[in-house]
Order: sequence, then C-alpha cells, then structure tokens
Amino acid sequence: METFVIRGGRRLEGTVTIDGAKNAILPILAACLLTDKEIVIGAVPELRDVYTIAEVLESLGVRVRTDLPGSLTVQADDVDRYAAPHDLVRRMRASFLVMGPLLTRFGQARIPLPGGCAIGSRPIDLHLKGFEAMGATVAVEQGYISATSRGRLHGNRIYLDIPSVGATENLMMAAVLAEGVTVIENAAEEPEVVDLANFLGSMGAQVHGAGTRVVRIDGVDQLGGTRYVAIPDRIEAGTFMVAAAISQGDVVVSNVIIDHLKPVVAKLREMGVEITEDSTSVRVTATGRPYPVDVKTLPYPGFPTDMQAQVMALLTVSSGTSVVTETVFENRFMHVDELCRMGAHIGVEGRSAIVRGVSVLSGAPVIATDLRAGAALVLAGLAAVGETELNGIQHIDRGYVHFERKLAGLGADIVRRQDALRGVAE
Ligand code: UD1
Repeated sequence: METFVIRGGRRLEGTVTIDGAKNAILPILAACLLTDKEIVIGAVPELRDVYTIAEVLESLGVRVRTDLPGSLTVQADDVDRYAAPHDLVRRMRASFLVMGPLLTRFGQARIPLPGGCAIGSRPIDLHLKGFEAMGATVAVEQGYISATSRGRLHGNRIYLDIPSVGATENLMMAAVLAEGVTVIENAAEEPEVVDLANFLGSMGAQVHGAGTRVVRIDGVDQLGGTRYVAIPDRIEAGTFMVAAAISQGDVVVSNVIIDHLKPVVAKLREMGVEITEDSTSVRVTATGRPYPVDVKTLPYPGFPTDMQAQVMALLTVSSGTSVVTETVFENRFMHVDELCRMGAHIGVEGRSAIVRGVSVLSGAPVIATDLRAGAALVLAGLAAVGETELNGIQHIDRGYVHFERKLAGLGADIVRRQDALRGVAE
C-alpha cells in the first residue's frame, strides 16, 4: 500500500500543465469499437482508469498500441468477443460505455452489472431504456446485462429523465451506426459529451447539437479511422486552482479551456480569489482566508459534482459559514468525516453540508474513499499545520497524472511512501 505524506504550510508558486481529460478519453476509447479502421488518439493521460478501459478493449480482441508517449493507436478489426470481463467492469463503472458501440456494430453485447460504488447507487436504467427504444432486446441474467439486436438498431426519439453524461454518451455511440435519425432529449451538455461528438464527427458520424439539451444523430452505414486529440481535464485544472487558493499561492494553470472552467472560476472569485484569464491558462492568486460561499452541484454548465469535495476543503478554512449542496449524486460526502478529523467543522443535513470555517486545519492520518475525496484531503493537507498521512491513494491515481509530482513542482511538501508495515499486516 502506498500513502501520501504531506507537510502543510507551503505557498504554491509556479506553473502546472494540465493533462488530457480522463472523462473525455474513456468514451473516446470505447468509441474506437465503432470501426475496423485505425485510430490514433493524442493527449492520453497516463491514468489507471485509461489502462482499465484499454484492457477492456483488448479483452474483446481490439489491438491497442502505444507508438508515441501520450498517444494510443487503436484498431478494432478483429473483435471476436462481445462480453466484458467482470473484474475490469467492477474496477471501473465507465467500462459500461463499451455497450453502445458493441451493440450497434456487432448486434450483441454482454456486460457484467456494474455494482454499487462509493458515491451512491448509480443506476444504468437510462442507458438500457435508450437501447430498447432503438430496438435492442435487453435482459439481465446471472449478473450480466445482455443486449442484442436483430439487424441494425433503429433511430428513435429518446427522452432522458436525468441529463446523464454516461447515458448520453452510450446512446450517442449506439445511434451513429443506427438506421435513421435518433434524437436524445434532455441530453447532458458536459464538454466531454461535446468532445466525444467531435471525435465521432472526425470518424464520419453525423452528430448535431452536442453541448445543448437536444442532440440529433443521423445514422451512417460505417465509420472511418481518424487522428484526434482530446480536451484538457477541467477537473484536474479546477483541483490545481483550489490548491493555489488554499495555499494562498500564485499559480499559473496552463493548457486549459477557459470556457469549461466558468463555474469554478465564478465560485473562486466569489471567495475573493484573484483569477486572471489568458487564452489557454489561468493565473490564480490568493491572499488571506477565502470568503464563505454557498455551492450547489448541478449538471453542466452548473458547478461540477467532481469539484464539490475540493471546494469544500477550501471552504473549511474560510472566514464564515458556507452551505454545500450535492444534487447530482447521493452519498457523496464521504470526505466530510475525514476533513473533520483534520479539524474542520462540517455538519451534514440531508444533501447539504454546513461548513463553518476554521482558522487552521491540523494534519492527521486520513483515508481517501474515492477519487475526488482523495484530492480534497490532499488539498486540506497542503493548508494544515503538521503532517497529513493519506491512505487509499490508489483512488487518486485513477484520475490525476503524477499528482504529487505536479504539486511538488509548485513547492508543496508531499511524498509518496510505501507503507511497508501496513503491507505486511494485510
Ligand atoms: C460522469 C463522470 C463523473 C461525473 C458524472 C456527473 C465519467 C467517466 N464520469 O459519470 O466523473 O461525476 O458524470 O458529472 O465521465 N443516473 C440514473 N440512471 C442512469 C444513469 C445515471 O439515475 O441510467 C443518475 C446517477 O445515479 C446520478 C446522475 O444520474 O445521480 C448523474 O449520473 P451520470 O451523469 O450518468 O454520471 P456518470 O456518467 O456515471
């Protein structure tokens, strides 16, 4: 087992470069199943989740090569299995994104039911209802979901009860090779959905309206190969912006798309953090404690749920009381108890957390329960007096490339340590 050991109190300064967006790359890699032609993808972050989806593809017979650092060459010209392995899907729910491409190209897909996970039950009913509306037969048997279609899927009008990112992506991928027109209403508007649509367009798909509530897809007979570079990771960028703010530092966060950061920029400015925008970077400067603010997570362009824990870490040291309301996922407050172990004052009432700012946090042994909770605890550790030892950092490795190295490059005192004793005990 590995841990991060952080000694707080350093002011972060310098420039950090953001990697490609994990949540854009995952559906893009799944979409490589839609053609037998070669695809080259750039700006691929070296992350555990990316390796997992690559393994899922390989398990189906797809060839995945790393010809150049930071790029993947993918060719699905020899797919001979249509069932994803259980251990991989359990490791990462987003593996379920291969269902739409497999079903629409090969007429069959068999994926283990993704189990519950740390941040709520996260059902997949909207994906399945959409596949059925397109003519697939869906059955749940022996822990697997199998979907089959006789002949091509057909386009239909699909209304999503919730603007689910994953359902929008899965259905969009299914629709590009379906017969006729598919309209997805109440679609997710996240930048990663738009990036997937742009990627599909570069393969020859006809996707219109991505980034709005209504996406229209005109099915085509086949798709071609392409070369594509994914967007930068807005959540990684937001996390480093909070790192700058919580350490009262002065950091340039480069390789960003400013538009994607709007909700985070607006909140940080409300807290008194100074943000200067350049064409592809933001400079974040903070002095003194942040002002308290209320935050409510919402689908894009609202405040991202994937930034809720990090912003809460910042609010724990604000000069007053803030209310953080989580509306996207149930049970996404697992970082609260750990932040309290570090001296934060937070009370949870239903879907809201009441955060009373304290003047100082103190380092403590804490545990990361999920990816963003882990990031939040690192941020809290940067501001805390004394040493924070963070366990469960495998969660952080799922979504942040060299997190500790990038922070150390800005002057943070953080090291990755092999926890030999715990390793023996387990
Ligand atoms: C994606 C992101 C994740 C982010 C989330 C919300 C990836 C790989 N992950 O997850 O980091 O936190 O968007 O921005 O891109 N729901 C249903 N039925 C469904 C599907 C979803 O009820 O069939 C509900 C979920 O339980 C949740 C809400 O819809 O409450 C939003 O989930 P969704 O947008 O689907 O999130 P993911 O695509 O899983």
